[in-house]
Formats: sequence, structure tokens, C-alpha cells
Amino acid sequence: MIQTDQLAMTYDGGVEALQTTSLAFKQGEVTVLLGPSGAGKSTLLHCLNHLRKPTHGAVVVDGLGRLNHTGRVRRHRRNTAMIFQQHQLLPRVSVLRNTLLGRLGHHGLWRSLWPLPASERRLALDSLARVGLADKALMRADQLSGGQQQRVGIARALTQQAELILADEPVASLDPSASRQVLSLLRGICRERGLTAVISLHQVEYTREFADRVVGLAGGAVVFDDRPDAITDDVLRHVYGDEAVGELATDHEAAAA
Ligand SMILES: Nc1ncnc2c1ncn2[C@@H]1O[C@H](COP(=O)(O)OP(=O)(O)OP(=O)(O)O)[C@@H](O)[C@H]1O
Ligand SMILES: [Mg+2]
Repeated sequence: MIQTDQLAMTYDGGVEALQTTSLAFKQGEVTVLLGPSGAGKSTLLHCLNHLRKPTHGAVVVDGLGRLNHTGRVRRHRRNTAMIFQQHQLLPRVSVLRNTLLGRLGHHGLWRSLWPLPASERRLALDSLARVGLADKALMRADQLSGGQQQRVGIARALTQQAELILADEPVASLDPSASRQVLSLLRGICRERGLTAVISLHQVEYTREFADRVVGLAGGAVVFDDRPDAITDDVLRHVYGDEAVGELATDHEAAAA
């Protein structure tokens, strides 16, 4: 449903963050981007949404074609939700209003200042119910836990009726139980509604548990692209380098203990 065609990204100053990459992300599939700090995970996610305009090649979206003019980018963004590590909600605003912000791309800012139709409130409330937060709708967003806030981010994506979810380290600041809850929700929603997700993660354990497909990045290049059960120690060495694998193994033992 979305592809990168010979996409590459070099930042001002000459950092080649992403080498020429052609990847196709299938509908309904959860792809995890795995790789060390600086590998290019965020850059790829930002290019997929044109938050960063690629310096070479293009993003190609089913039904829209190449994202080579602003009208197409705008339509693509309307169908695409982004979930970040944190700070994605308006803190002093209710959970329901934060969820309704998913409709912004459908109405524009001016229309969104007026009360939204009952059907949209119902959609937002249904979305909150899907992530288990119906009873928190009227609380302020900053009164929720980190995991609950990420679930509001997912509810907002559902309210947006997004077809593509791009999540940049969505569980980086959560404990293991909240992390699993958020990732399990994301995967469950992709399966039941046929949404596509591309998620960057630092945890190999969660990648094995929740990914349908894993793309390993190192130094801006794709060095692995396969199912999670194909991740071996050799693959991890290739993605993270020799030294890091020892640390990852220690983490793995600690998690298993
Ligand atoms: N705005 C920018 N300007 C210049 N260079 C940048 C910019 N953003 C990222 N980079 C560089 O591009 C490379 C890839 O960065 P990116 O943020 O995509 O990595 P990442 O895999 O997301 O890392 P992390 O796991 O730390 O989030 C790095 O070398 C980084 O320093
Ligand atoms: Mg990043």
C-alpha cells in the first residue's frame, strides 16, 4: 500500500541518513524498524509521511501515486497517523478532545474550532473504548499514565480513520507491562482493521513478539528484511555490531530471569 522507490535522505551538512532504499509495506502488516541509534529509523519514518522531504527518490502510495506535489502529500497525511515517544497530546485538554484532534485533517483548523458533529464524538468515544479508556474521556490528558497516553494516541489514529500508522519508539518511556499492552493493541488493531503499521523499536524482545516483518537498519542501509523468527545472533551482530550483541544478550537474560 506504500512503497519507497529509490528513496534516500541526506541532511543539510552532508549526513547521509538513509541510503537508497526501496521497500514495500503491505496492508495489514506490522513492520518493525530495528537498528542502533543513528541508523536512520526516524528519518525513514519521517520520509514516509513527508515530514522530511526525501532528497532522492519518492514515496509511492496506492491510489495516490508518487508524493510529488502538495495535494497528494496532504491527502496522504490525512490517511496517516503518527505516534511519537511522548509529548503528542495537549496536556491540559481532555482525553476526548485530544482524541477528536484525529479529525483535524478532515476539517481543517477553522472548522475544528466549532463543536464537531455527534457522529464524530461517537467515533472518538468508540475509539477510546477500543483502547480501554472510555471511562477516562473527560479527564485531562496530563492526568493519565504514560501507557494510557500512548493508548490515547492510538485512539486518535482510529478516530482519524488512518490507514497507515507510523510510530517512532512508541514504548521507549514505558515499563514492560505497558509496552506490551500498547504494542499488542497496535498489532490487534492492524489485524482487525487491515491497517498498516511501521514502528521503530529498540527492544529485540518486543520485535520478536509483535512484528510481522522486521527491517534492520545500520548506517542508513537496510541490512535485514525478514520475518522476526529469522533474527539470529548473527543478524543482531550485523545490525548492532559485535559489542552491542553482548549487551543485548544480557538484557535478554535479565528479561527471562
Ligand atoms: N535534522 C538533522 N540534521 C542533520 N542530521 C540529522 C538530523 N536528524 C538526524 N540526523 C542524522 O541522521 C542520522 C540518522 O538519524 P535518525 O534520527 O534517523 O536515527 P535513528 O535510527 O532514529 O536513531 P535513534 O535510535 O537514536 O532515534 C544520524 O546520523 C543523525 O545524526
Ligand atoms: Mg529515532
